[in-house]
Amino acid sequence: MPRLVYHRATDPVKIDPKTLDPEKLLSICACGISQKFPFCDGSHKKCRANEQPGILYVYDRDNREVVEERPDVPPAPPPVPPASDSPPPTTAPSA
Ligand code: FES
Repeated sequence: MPRLVYHRATDPVKIDPKTLDPEKLLSICACGISQKFPFCDGSHKKCRANEQPGILYVYDRDNREVVEERPDVPPAPPPVPPASDSPPPTTAPSA
């Protein structure tokens, strides 16, 4: 259930810990569609309600609605090193 989300930000969001309420949890958005990114605004409920495994979801940049669905193509596995004729050393060589 991956998703593509358009973000314009190019700088970090700085949080002054003195402005936080120590009695409340600070929720950071992990779904990517929050209108208050990087803070969670509850928009993740849309993801949970609508997304299915095996689909890549493209979200509209303004109203955070799904505008396209594509088959989810997993990334290619890392390349396998070529086989060697000699077995790898089992201990470090002595100097
Ligand atoms: S985790 Fe993204 S809006 Fe809540």
